[in-house]
Amino acid sequence: MSATYEVENRTAVITLNNPPVNGLSHATRAGIVDGLKMAMADKIVNSVVITGAGHAFSGGADVREFNTPKSFAEPTLHMVIAALEDAQKPVVAAVHSTAMGGGLELALACHYRVATAGAQIAMPEVKLGIVPGAGGTQRLPRLVGVETALNMIVSGNSVLSEDLAGTRLFDQMIEGDLMAGAIAFADKVADVRPLPKVRDIKIDCPNYETFFQQARITVSVQSANFPAPEKCVDCVAASVSMKFEDGMKVERENFLALLQTTESKALRHAFFGERAAGKIPDVPDDTPKRPIKSAAIIGAGTMGGGIAMNFANAGIPVMLVEMKPEALDKGLAAIRKNYENTLKKGKLTQQKFDERVGLIRGTLSYDDIKNADIVIEAVFEEMGVKEKVFRKLDEVMKPGAILSSNTSSLDLNKIADFTKRPQDVIGLHFFSPANVMKLVEIVRGEKTANDVLATTMALLKKIKKTGVVSGVCDGFIGNRMLDMYTRQAAFLLEEGCLPEQVDKAIEKYGFAMGPFRMGDLAGVDVSWAIRKRRIAERPDMEYSKIGDLLYEKGRYGQKNGGGWYDYKPGDRTPIPSLLVSEMIINHSKDIGVERRKISDQEIVERLIYALVNEAAYLLEEGIAQRASDVDIVYLTGYGFPRHRGGPMFYADTVGLSNVVVAMGKYALGRHGGFWKPAPLLAKLAAEGKTFN
Ligand code: NAI
Repeated sequence: MSATYEVENRTAVITLNNPPVNGLSHATRAGIVDGLKMAMADKIVNSVVITGAGHAFSGGADVREFNTPKSFAEPTLHMVIAALEDAQKPVVAAVHSTAMGGGLELALACHYRVATAGAQIAMPEVKLGIVPGAGGTQRLPRLVGVETALNMIVSGNSVLSEDLAGTRLFDQMIEGDLMAGAIAFADKVADVRPLPKVRDIKIDCPNYETFFQQARITVSVQSANFPAPEKCVDCVAASVSMKFEDGMKVERENFLALLQTTESKALRHAFFGERAAGKIPDVPDDTPKRPIKSAAIIGAGTMGGGIAMNFANAGIPVMLVEMKPEALDKGLAAIRKNYENTLKKGKLTQQKFDERVGLIRGTLSYDDIKNADIVIEAVFEEMGVKEKVFRKLDEVMKPGAILSSNTSSLDLNKIADFTKRPQDVIGLHFFSPANVMKLVEIVRGEKTANDVLATTMALLKKIKKTGVVSGVCDGFIGNRMLDMYTRQAAFLLEEGCLPEQVDKAIEKYGFAMGPFRMGDLAGVDVSWAIRKRRIAERPDMEYSKIGDLLYEKGRYGQKNGGGWYDYKPGDRTPIPSLLVSEMIINHSKDIGVERRKISDQEIVERLIYALVNEAAYLLEEGIAQRASDVDIVYLTGYGFPRHRGGPMFYADTVGLSNVVVAMGKYALGRHGGFWKPAPLLAKLAAEGKTFN
């Protein structure tokens, strides 16, 4: 049963019951229609209340049925909405917790709505690259006003029910028991005729032409790569300028057209990819989990501090361990400062500030952390230091504690073998700044136990991170691919580009930051050190010396005022550097390369296909579980443009045979060996298949 039916006194109560968020599955839709039929047929019943069981009114479409025949099966949401609106007895929506997308559209079609405070009200469709498709763009403006509706529909963000209390959306805000209040309200309006329909409300927006002109300008600037927000404006404008039925047609046309766009497909791929990433084929959802009530972090540096904040934000007490009091004080002060800035910006209440700061404590003694349920090591990236820490953890931590490392490149299996409990060891590779970045690569060691994996997956969800499982290899999924991308970027400099041209081309493609701006942020010295280690391990690796030359000039990036770019003191705006241009041009001469004009298309193809080819190896080797995991790593950790869906999805849209053909062309140039297609890529391309 996905919707239940009861009668209380003279009110029929239809309760959506499809956990976790009462998604509008086929069975739920059918349940509503059946309930309405029963209510209409029952002479005793004079009104209907519709609500949701558990922790939601309704979260909208049931994503489990997305793109399956059930999602189109009758009764469709449009039919349910028509049945509600045309019901001959008053229908009252009793809204609580969450009313989103189709769930909100359902409530908008009722004759009345009552709500409790604290409910999240939203039309999030734009985040999937579409417009609301069941009357949301026509009914919401009639109830909350054009401006509020437009903001909600264009942003997709949720608004608290109490903030909409003064509008026509809610006929009454209920304090205390929602159902008792809703039934009392239904009883009160039971005999009121005619039944009010939202479609009949006249919208008052006197200077709507100027208003929408302005809105279009603002939206087109903010959403350069997405068609959906502008279409949202068109639909809301239609609600003002057209009759209800015609406005509905405009909404329908836009909804159907947007559904076919690559951008919407990419956004939906990202949405489902994030959900898929949480599944590990051989670790079922019901794998028992270890309780995590407290955490410890070794090292209160850049990463340790940020990681600690994630735990405190989720209400989990966390202890930071350092070697020296000065380092500990510095780490704790940095955390406090970070929270103070949020407090100053008004994004944190004083109470939350006190709670969070209070949950983070420091110590110099491992004795204080021995009872923690999980410990995350974030000390220097040196195997010798990691070894000392893990031997110590093995000695002091209680049995069953999860021992994890934030290493970004070292061999997790080796780290696990420093302990007598390698089954309890796992990698948790957070990204910087760790309190902000969503991505965490979960590094599964050879001996990592299934319940340790299941526990960390659940924990990451709790601290609002996106976990993606990676096998053990140098750089894991993200950085191993990035190595190919940055090597290709440096070859482009040798052949004719300057850093600003490469960055501009890839930023135009949609990346948040090009490779050289990113290099300056991460530190030219840091990438130099990583490169040196890699070359020592793989002496045959082809790479450009250009980064080494920059390092030898002492230009480490933003940290010392100059790297690939120049910087004014206290300003992070990159300024193209004459000195660097000269250095690059001279280097081309020194290695006998005749510089040529390189197109933006070539830049983008070489950078993206370098990522794609390496990812194909990762899939073959089983380091990445699925192509969409690779996409999620790049979307959540590397600033890959969301509307392109990630490198693998993008390659699929280009066509893998086209990718291979382009690689063949680049193979005729310098470092041709770089472009040998990974066997999986070659095979899929030959078979006309895709990664996803
Ligand atoms: P950091 O140098 O800022 O911090 C390391 C901290 O560990 C220092 O405060 C140091 O005093 C402390 N420490 C060193 N040995 C210790 C020991 N035996 N016991 C207790 N504390 C000790 O380094 P960062 O950047 O925070 O990196 C830490 C780890 O995170 C490294 O493994 C690094 O590869 C990894 N990582 C770094 C990222 C970054 O962007 N900085 C990103 C992802 C991972």
